[in-house]
Amino acid sequence: MDGSNRRVRTKLKHMTKPVYILNGPNLNLLGTREPGVYGNHTLADIERDCAGRAKALGLEIEFRQTNMEGELVTWVQEAGLKASGIVLNAGAYTHTSVALHDALRAAGVPVIEVHLSNVYKREEFRHKSYVSTVAVGVICGLGPLGYELALEALAGSSGE
Ligand code: DQA
Repeated sequence: MDGSNRRVRTKLKHMTKPVYILNGPNLNLLGTREPGVYGNHTLADIERDCAGRAKALGLEIEFRQTNMEGELVTWVQEAGLKASGIVLNAGAYTHTSVALHDALRAAGVPVIEVHLSNVYKREEFRHKSYVSTVAVGVICGLGPLGYELALEALAGSSGE
């Protein structure tokens, strides 16, 4: 099989299952929460932009937010069975949750970690991530665009 066929097969594989875009605590407050740090976009705006980018890439998405650690863990487990990949902004659980780390490790699907803010410019406690070591890649500091870039990465596309 030549390279182009392999690429088509990769895309088709992605198209058979949705990408889960999972958001953790306090991300429901986007738009009003610390706009100087997180900007003015609401989570609904981000979902809409992701839906548009996913459509262009030929991907299905499942977009969710929860304030509960256990629910996030359950969704990651579900994604392991039903998703082609995970885009994860775990919010503060990024920096605290061994349970989330274990669930991601067990899920066995590619994970892209996303943060709206550049966590490395912020408090020291945000420099530790329990997600990064089980992620394919990390995107932070690019605002909502990070979600769309993560979708492109999972689609195996550079956006062309
Ligand atoms: C965040 C960064 C986290 O440190 C913080 O707890 C969040 C949002 C981000 O998107 O920049 O809730 O994940």
